Amino acid sequence: MRVTLEQACDLLKSGLVIAVPTETVYGLAASIDFPHAIEDIFRLKGRPADNPLIVHAAASSEISEYIKEKPPQYEELAASFWPGPMTLVLPVLEEKIPSVARAGLSTAAFRIPFHPLTLQLLQKTGPLVMPSANLSGKPSATSAQHVENDFGSGFSVLDGGSCQKGVESTILCWKDSEWTIIRLGALSPEAFEGVLGYLPRVKVGGEGQKERPLCPGQLYRHYAPQAKLILLNSIPTAMEGVLVGFSGRSYPEGCRLYSLGSSENPEAAAHELYAVLRQLDADGIQEAAVDMDFPDKGLWLTLRERLQKASRSD
Ligand code: TXA
Ligand code: MG
Repeated sequence: MRVTLEQACDLLKSGLVIAVPTETVYGLAASIDFPHAIEDIFRLKGRPADNPLIVHAAASSEISEYIKEKPPQYEELAASFWPGPMTLVLPVLEEKIPSVARAGLSTAAFRIPFHPLTLQLLQKTGPLVMPSANLSGKPSATSAQHVENDFGSGFSVLDGGSCQKGVESTILCWKDSEWTIIRLGALSPEAFEGVLGYLPRVKVGGEGQKERPLCPGQLYRHYAPQAKLILLNSIPTAMEGVLVGFSGRSYPEGCRLYSLGSSENPEAAAHELYAVLRQLDADGIQEAAVDMDFPDKGLWLTLRERLQKASRSD
């Protein structure tokens, strides 16, 4: 059910959960002042309780009220990338953020999203905690329709159109005297080099790792359609069946293409990614090959990581 900005504001202020757009993906939002509503988010998504949520705010002055200390270059990062698809994990004043939102950790993740409707909403409601608005483990939602497909047509959604970026924010934390990327996202590692003076290390962890990942969400299966995805570095000449790939490439005749757009345009591929994965399910596809022949840099790193996670069978 689509709601207006005013209705969205009223629902959140009465302690209810609704979906709101951001420039990355849709979020499932609750006011930071309603721990019960935050618990509802976990229940609605089927999300493990040890996977914390991101606090979204309209301004960095609001974020300052929650944090214990600002790591070096925090101000520079905030000034350069907020509002935008960057999330920072920071040590917090624990009494100010419900424990359920931070999964009991002494840190919390923060972001100022870049979406005009949601910025207006945040100005009226104050900080909102929100994970991506999808059932846990499934592809994220990049349109109001995707949210309704997961949570039902009666679920309240503030419709902000199709998400501009299409993949989640890049998450950084301050660790061992440097900023480290703990989840790849819509901003590539290279994007931070100018501001930080170094290329941040990427430590996303997850599958098969001995150490616990810095970002709890990396432990879980994610972004996955029903269809089994088979990742291929090159496409065999005699292949048949469904193929997630790029327009403009010549594939074997027997392939049915689900296109991520041009192989020259990672932004377009990111924009299409979850819609394509969701379309496989809508069409009842059981198995799809994926053309992984793209560069190992920039936003392509994020696409590769998302597809690898989506193809996991556990
Ligand atoms: O673009 C985005 O970031 C979207 C939109 C809605 O803002 N949100 C999003 O939320 O992707 P979610 O819940 O799907 O992913 C948040 C990630 C999880 O992997 C979680 O483990 C990590 O952030 N996270 C949250 N708090 C953390 C903390 N204190 N330390 C480390 N990782 C944290
Ligand atoms: Mg998510």
